[in-house]
Amino acid sequence: MIPDDSIISIPPDLAATLRKAKKIVVLTGSGISAESGVPTFRDAQAGLWAQYRPEELATPQAFLRNPALVWEWYEWRRDLVVKAKPNLGHDYLVIMEKQAPEFVLITQNVDGLHQQAGSQNVIELHGNIHRNKCSREGTIMEISPPAGEIPPRCKNCGAYLRPDVVWFNESLPPYAIQFAWEAAQNCDIFFSIGTSSLVQPAASLPMIAHERGAAVVEINIAETPLSTYATFALTGSAGQILQNLVKRTWQDPLQPVFDPDYNF
Ligand code: OAD
Repeated sequence: MIPDDSIISIPPDLAATLRKAKKIVVLTGSGISAESGVPTFRDAQAGLWAQYRPEELATPQAFLRNPALVWEWYEWRRDLVVKAKPNLGHDYLVIMEKQAPEFVLITQNVDGLHQQAGSQNVIELHGNIHRNKCSREGTIMEISPPAGEIPPRCKNCGAYLRPDVVWFNESLPPYAIQFAWEAAQNCDIFFSIGTSSLVQPAASLPMIAHERGAAVVEINIAETPLSTYATFALTGSAGQILQNLVKRTWQDPLQPVFDPDYNF
């Protein structure tokens, strides 16, 4: 059962640990965008797409077999994302970044909502759905209208364009995973927010931080394989918990009521 957001309380030890932390690392998954109306990766698909599993469409093999089907699926997902706006969770991570001496946000999301909210130091592990690249050369490519054929073709070599996202059975961008790995190894506190902690290598990042002695904080509406390792596992919606946590950590403790004009 999802707890009532109004009663989600923040452990005082967590607020104290966060206030003292010099290096804060946050890993997010699709759960943080759920409150913006973007379905999580493994949520039931709607409409025409209900008959397909995402794991069967987000692969290079699926694209080879049926490029138009995979392209159309990404068009549908893009449409959902374009209509979405950042939510409380994205916004409070922006405030957290402003408070932190050092802050790295690693995201598995391809929706760009963290950047839209104003987060600065963002590592995209799985690419970005708003970009396309040539399926042969990997060059990032705008779709030059009119785009008659589906998928459109690369204007250099004629191969199909594809979304610039990482598919199952593909490697992550090497600079992104290396940067994320180093950040996890060197942080004081590591947050894992709205991710099922099932997909590697992202799922290993909190474990690396844990082994190096960092506090690990999970925020999720459900238990995950990470929950038992977490120093603090907070159950509830990411937006509400992040809001409570940031207020609790950085608000003047003598002020009983949060002041929205408080100068962070
Ligand atoms: P999943 O769909 O696997 O998991 C979403 C997680 O968010 C679940 O654990 C939910 O319980 C949690 N959740 C849902 N709503 C929430 C809310 N309001 N607040 C907090 N938590 C909430 O998505 P990811 O973990 O992001 O990669 O999936 C990771 C990767 O798997 C994706 O990036 C995708 C897929 O492979 C690629 O496409 C390469």
